[in-house]
Amino acid sequence: MTRSIKTKLETIDKDHFSLLVDIGKIAKEENLKAYLVGGMVRDLLLGFNNLDIDIVIESNAHKLANALVSRFSNCELSAKHDRFHTAKIIFTIDGKKISIDLASTREETYEHPAALPTVNVSDLQKDLYRRDFTINALAVSLLPDDFGKIVDLFSGLNDLENKKIKILHDLSFIDDPTRIIRAVRFAVKLGFEIEEHTKKLLFEAINSEQFDNLIEKIRGDRVKIEIRYLLNLPSIQEAIKEFYNSGIHRMVSTSLRSNDKLLNLKLDKKHKSENSWLLYLGIILKDLNNTDQEQIMKNLQMTNDEIKIITNGLKAYKILEISENTNSITLFKTLKELSSESILITKLLFSTNNKILALIDEYIEKTSKIKLEITGQDLILMGLTEGRKLGETLNLILEMKIKNPNMKKEDEIAQAKILLMNH
Ligand code: CTP
Repeated sequence: MTRSIKTKLETIDKDHFSLLVDIGKIAKEENLKAYLVGGMVRDLLLGFNNLDIDIVIESNAHKLANALVSRFSNCELSAKHDRFHTAKIIFTIDGKKISIDLASTREETYEHPAALPTVNVSDLQKDLYRRDFTINALAVSLLPDDFGKIVDLFSGLNDLENKKIKILHDLSFIDDPTRIIRAVRFAVKLGFEIEEHTKKLLFEAINSEQFDNLIEKIRGDRVKIEIRYLLNLPSIQEAIKEFYNSGIHRMVSTSLRSNDKLLNLKLDKKHKSENSWLLYLGIILKDLNNTDQEQIMKNLQMTNDEIKIITNGLKAYKILEISENTNSITLFKTLKELSSESILITKLLFSTNNKILALIDEYIEKTSKIKLEITGQDLILMGLTEGRKLGETLNLILEMKIKNPNMKKEDEIAQAKILLMNH
């Protein structure tokens, strides 16, 4: 495989490219070394588009950040962390903002398994060695003299070519168990294989039970980020299968049980949403009791909106599951306050029930869009006073309109009159 990605870099968006060139030049002037690292390097080599710029500086990121801000009027410092030796800068080009992460080359030590690491400035080799997998431990020089040259200290190029996910050292999963989820994610996403020794260590770590119910013990948002990536993958069935096969589910909760039915659930393409991970997580949590579900979601540090999407979707499913004669009206009543994502959870769970599925599709495509033309004000003019009865009357007319969507405003008024006479 190539030892330079200069020509590949020349094909990316021209503004991003010229920023990389400028950063290399300023680094040289400041007697620093600058390298592009992480996902962007991996994806460029694989031919995927990725403009997430992560740069490491040997050895002082803050010095480079300051130099860039003082040299370029369109560059601002948006964040700076002394403890982690990182900085974020933002360039504005023709109104477009390009954000760049800078970090000093550093090494990490973990005081105990899964702890947040202690960070010390080091050299490039140690910085690459602290990373998760060999394919993510490639660096590309940005200095003018060797711009685009790949630094491959751990045979990452070889592993990219042989489609292998391989850790750099035996304690990798123990230091950072979120890497277990990352290994599975990259394997599923890229169609790679987890290398034998890495696989052995992955199962040893999971089976050691020290990471059982991990989200109760570490900052759950780190796990949530990785679960979100995993369950948002287009090959969702494969992702869910590996979620159970690899034992990742035990990190979320040892009460979770694999369920073959789950593997057959898939959203229609037309319903694809950025939040599809939430729908699948909801389904994974479905068989737990409400208290356990909520505890897990809290431990994952999910937002109230995210929690609501899942709980409402599962609640609607349970109501419809036990109701005997579901029809357009009862379905309408169950789904009407729900977000589109909650409805999709319910829909996924009824994947094998054609009758309910058709009713949910009818709701999504037609019934949910039906609106009354008659208003509360019209009913007040007809002699009704504001209050519960007014709301009930509007609901009854809406139900009639769901049965007969061709109703016009005069038909609605006629029905209102009949209802009021009968009261
Ligand atoms: N990294 C790591 N261990 C982790 C998370 C990240 O070593 N638990 C390192 C890897 O070198 C990774 C880089 O930090 O490439 C950037 O991390 P991130 O942005 O999370 O992932 P990417 O590899 O960029 O991949 P993607 O954008 O697909 O998430």
